[in-house]
Amino acid sequence: MYPVGEFETARLWLRQPVEADIPSRVEIPRDAEENRMYGGDGTPKTFSPEEVRQRLTALTSQNSEVSRSWVLAAKIWPDGLAVSQPKGRYIGQITIFAIDPDHRNARLRMGIYDRRFWSQGYGREAVRRILQHAFDDLHLHRMALRVAAYNLRAIRSYESCGFVVEGRERESLWMDEHWWDDVIMGVLDSEFQQNGPV
Ligand SMILES: CC(C)(COP(=O)(O)OP(=O)(O)OC[C@H]1O[C@@H](n2cnc3c(N)ncnc32)[C@H](O)[C@@H]1OP(=O)(O)O)[C@@H](O)C(=O)NCCC(=O)NCCS
Repeated sequence: MYPVGEFETARLWLRQPVEADIPSRVEIPRDAEENRMYGGDGTPKTFSPEEVRQRLTALTSQNSEVSRSWVLAAKIWPDGLAVSQPKGRYIGQITIFAIDPDHRNARLRMGIYDRRFWSQGYGREAVRRILQHAFDDLHLHRMALRVAAYNLRAIRSYESCGFVVEGRERESLWMDEHWWDDVIMGVLDSEFQQNGPV
């Protein structure tokens, strides 16, 4: 058993993968915009069931002392209708990695691959729940992340969870014939607690 826990929020389960996650991912080819948010070139791609299975299996075979991942599974669609999958519809992933217990810090990454769920607060819901876990259960002091400066949706979402911009790695991404900065963001446990309950 991969001992990372499972969490529930108003509209999400943060859980380990189940078999029904495979068709949910296969149904949706790579989203060009999503891929560009990671610095990719947006080349079209579809996912085979075997490829998805391998990726999901890899989630559960990490060393949970240093890296913990959860599948984001929506319980309801943005319009409030229940999804058909009993364990929720797989829409993305969230990971805490580079966990350093001595200095009580870690890094965060996340992605929602299904654009129908973007800008509806699902990202904020997931990040806030994982920050609560990181600070209350894992007793971390600090969480950090890196985001492309052109990813305004992500930056806004992270800010709404308490992250602040701490610095920039200048001109580290080449996109659309321009150099773009990477933005470094961080949140401390005390700052997160000030934001109120999840
Ligand atoms: C980034 C991501 C996880 C955010 O999750 P989300 O559920 O879409 O975001 P939220 O709804 O929590 O917050 C988005 C905020 O950005 C705002 N927003 C959306 N587009 C925006 C834009 N172009 N400029 C500025 N703000 C924007 C929304 O209005 C919302 O703010 P509000 O709640 O104050 O109105 C998700 O969009 C995603 O996975 N995108 C594709 C991959 C990606 O970018 N991953 C992150 C890599 S660091």
